[in-house]
Amino acid sequence: MPAIEMRPGIHWIGVNDYTTDLFEGLWPITQEGVSYNSYLIHDEKNAIIDLAKSVKIDEFIDRISEIIDVLQIDYIILNHMEPDHTGILKVLKKLAPRATILCSPKAKQMIQTFYGITENIQTVQDGEEISLGKNILQFFLTPFVHWPETMMTYEKTNRILFSCDAFGGYGSLQGAIFDDSCTNFEFYKQQSLRYYANIVSKFSSQVLKAIEKLSGIPVEVIAPSHGLIWRKNPGIILNLYKQWANYARGPGEKGVTLLFATMYGNTEAMMEAVAQGISESGVYLERFDVRKTHVSYILSSLWTKQGVMIGAPTYENELFPSMAYVLDIALRKGFQNKKAAYFGSYGWAGGAIRELEKTCEALQWGLTDSFVFPGGPAPEALMKGHEFGRKFGELIGNS
Ligand code: FEO
Repeated sequence: MPAIEMRPGIHWIGVNDYTTDLFEGLWPITQEGVSYNSYLIHDEKNAIIDLAKSVKIDEFIDRISEIIDVLQIDYIILNHMEPDHTGILKVLKKLAPRATILCSPKAKQMIQTFYGITENIQTVQDGEEISLGKNILQFFLTPFVHWPETMMTYEKTNRILFSCDAFGGYGSLQGAIFDDSCTNFEFYKQQSLRYYANIVSKFSSQVLKAIEKLSGIPVEVIAPSHGLIWRKNPGIILNLYKQWANYARGPGEKGVTLLFATMYGNTEAMMEAVAQGISESGVYLERFDVRKTHVSYILSSLWTKQGVMIGAPTYENELFPSMAYVLDIALRKGFQNKKAAYFGSYGWAGGAIRELEKTCEALQWGLTDSFVFPGGPAPEALMKGHEFGRKFGELIGNS
């Protein structure tokens, strides 16, 4: 895609990344891709807002050159230091040596530690303004959305909020870069939720603080550094982020995430009975085989749903390892406010439940019910599993 003018003199100059398989080395984006949205404001002074990962550097420079000579860049504004937005900084600084880097005070040290750059860095204070000519930039410090040094840049004349990670999502831009020309909104909604659950969820209270801080500012366009640019209905992504952030404070949607793993099909057979029971209760159900589904995709469901049904066998007196891994990630990410229940098969001793009780305590999840069975499930046990699932579904549905 060529550079795209969003407002007179304000251009999207980002790149789509189809090469990276694991975002942050953790989260799969092989199928979905991701965009690094960067913006160039061409005015009496020329400013670039956020950069890109060190992929497609030539394409990035070409985009700039469509509009101005790279030597004419006056400011490089770094809202956030994570290398998906700064990876090409060293190269760009060499090509545009007179450009001044504008960043938060906390970012200054990180620019040195990540890139060895110490010269021509100007820190900005919360609320500080800089005039480019017609365009006036105002900076708002928004720590921990996503790292401690993060800020957002607001262009006052056109009322554009350059929000960096906030309001962003996975998913390369598929032709349309604006919400009003996007024909597959559901894709971006799902990818924004997965991005939120994977990357941002741990910092939900800071997300809500940032939204509150910016609530008095008239915003016509939300221009994040990943995913769609929201110029028709910025309220959609704003409200989604608010909704997702609020799940950190209280219960989520009335729904159950059913996580299961099986060794020889015994816990799987019980899972079918439990799932039938949950469905019979009428509550929304999403099911994941944790052996085969990357935790990245599971976290979207886990973050948003109140109920977690865990089905996994005992393995060497402990919880089945792939289930333990998913729950460990949930713990590290601070997923709380859940009601849980557990079932699983065991061979000679049911040690999984002991580990699960400890894990649920650490997660602050209420373990409301559990049942275990030796070997394969007898017909009576399957009936019990069905009832167990129905009761848990009703508990979530009526909560
Ligand atoms: Fe898109 Fe926190 O980096």
